[in-house]
Amino acid sequence: MDRKKVFITSQIPEIGINLLIEKGYSVEIYNKNQSINKKELIRRAKDCDAVVTLLSDKIDKEILEKFNNVKVIANYAAGYNNIDINFAREKGIIVTNTPDVLTDSTADLTLALILACARRIPEGIDLVRKKQFKGWAPKLLLGMELNNKTAGIIGMGRIGFAVAKRLKAFGCKIIYYSNRINPEAERNFNAKKVSLKNLMKNSDIISIHVPLNEKSKNLINSEMLDLLKKDSIIINTARGEVIDEDYLIKMLYENKIFYAGFDVYQNEPRINPQLLKLKNVVLLPHIGSATKEARDKMSILVAKNVIAVLSGRKALTPVN
Ligand code: GLV
Ligand code: GLV
Repeated sequence: MDRKKVFITSQIPEIGINLLIEKGYSVEIYNKNQSINKKELIRRAKDCDAVVTLLSDKIDKEILEKFNNVKVIANYAAGYNNIDINFAREKGIIVTNTPDVLTDSTADLTLALILACARRIPEGIDLVRKKQFKGWAPKLLLGMELNNKTAGIIGMGRIGFAVAKRLKAFGCKIIYYSNRINPEAERNFNAKKVSLKNLMKNSDIISIHVPLNEKSKNLINSEMLDLLKKDSIIINTARGEVIDEDYLIKMLYENKIFYAGFDVYQNEPRINPQLLKLKNVVLLPHIGSATKEARDKMSILVAKNVIAVLSGRKALTPVN
């Protein structure tokens, strides 16, 4: 029997890999503790029927041109800006992502960042660890309450909605910027759709939940950032390229906003050294979907997408 071949660019949770093996596919995994390089990826994947990729694997034209046998690329992420999906479509390759299954995990992490910023958690941890805690004090590390604050959600998709739900429970008023009205958010959270300028001007908490594409790249530019309130918090768990990072860093140095929470960066995994010197930031290593639950479900969904396409059925979550 000619077994179908699947190449996975990294060790993902077993649960999905086992589904592929049970199906009788030959599964090869790149097991090094680093991203696979272009040459190696082409060599190992070009004759496979399916490839499972990470968001750190850049799948460009040059690579896709070599993928002559590949029918499906299943990206182990909700975002798929790492793949040239239009060229993949021209080549007849289906690309899939992993939406929904990581929504709650990413929304939880967003709240963790918001609360860490609002209550200056990193400064508190630092103080205790450096043995500088001298006792309770009336003005030690004063932060900000969430109740009655205005939260501006940029992108009211599944993750934006899940973040709005959580912030509503904390007593926030919700405004959002989006291509279209989200009736469920308006009904359930009394959320109001506003212009981006209006959102930047009026929010105490700003959280970004748009996918990265040509329209959202540098969406939060210097002109938008200049509109922020002096006491505001801005959180990015989407993609670094959505914000003008250099300008935001400059504003944080000048205390033009209160705090910023980053889970993603412009040149991941490189971090702008200026960011590391700031006190008013929370810096995380792109762990929005990093829960046991989400990563297992992502692994299953990736496998189900591969199996569907290789069995001649429609992919569950195609993006092109
Ligand atoms: C993570 O950033 C994802 O897109 O899944
Ligand atoms: C991701 O699942 C999103 O659409 O927000």
